[in-house]
Amino acid sequence: MKTNGGSDAAKRNAGESAAAAVTDGMVVGLGTGSTAAHAIRAIGRAVDDGLDVRGVPTSFQSRELAREAGVPLVDLDAVEDLDLAIDGADQFAGPHLVKGGGAAHAREKVVDAAADRLLVVADPSKETDRLDHPVPVEVLPAARTTAAAAVRDLDGEPVLRDAERKDGPVVTDNGNLVLDCDFGPIDAPNELASSLSAIPGVVEHGLFVGMADEVHVGTDDGVEVREF
Ligand code: A5P
Repeated sequence: MKTNGGSDAAKRNAGESAAAAVTDGMVVGLGTGSTAAHAIRAIGRAVDDGLDVRGVPTSFQSRELAREAGVPLVDLDAVEDLDLAIDGADQFAGPHLVKGGGAAHAREKVVDAAADRLLVVADPSKETDRLDHPVPVEVLPAARTTAAAAVRDLDGEPVLRDAERKDGPVVTDNGNLVLDCDFGPIDAPNELASSLSAIPGVVEHGLFVGMADEVHVGTDDGVEVREF
């Protein structure tokens, strides 16, 4: 599993804090990444203790993990809305997020946007005053060159994400490619989000503007919850 900076204890505290918000009868979005994984395992333990919940996975990884943890699942295309989503982030500034370090941001955005509440789980290394993390942009394979040119027109520097332990690029769960696009500090995330969405061949980008309702920031000793 891909991991970023931040201790496992901090990620666990964040994940378990958010999982405690899950109550009987909920349909819950299950995010992707090493921090959301702790929430999925905690929900699995609660299911063992009798919690009645259905999870909507956001990726191959979260589906496999939820199956192992014993969380009953429902497909994304079988639900109209969700009560809650718990998801990680690569960087957050208040309620604004950059996601997609695990290339799962397209499904994550559908799930997180459909949820009544989005709880983000993160360690303190993810927090910033102004977003400046490269923005993952999922593109149709045939559009990678034209989309990269359009990103350059927006003053971004696109890099095709390479796979690890495989020659060639990362291929997403949706069969597409990812351009990691460095824009430096992002002063107007809403404008950039609209511009990226308007590029032909872009399936989804990793700017989640104003989407978090809470960020559970785990540390080695506990958790701080920011509400927006
Ligand atoms: C998946 O594509 C991402 O959006 C993850 O949610 C994000 O990379 C956070 O992952 P970690 O919790 O492993 O840092």
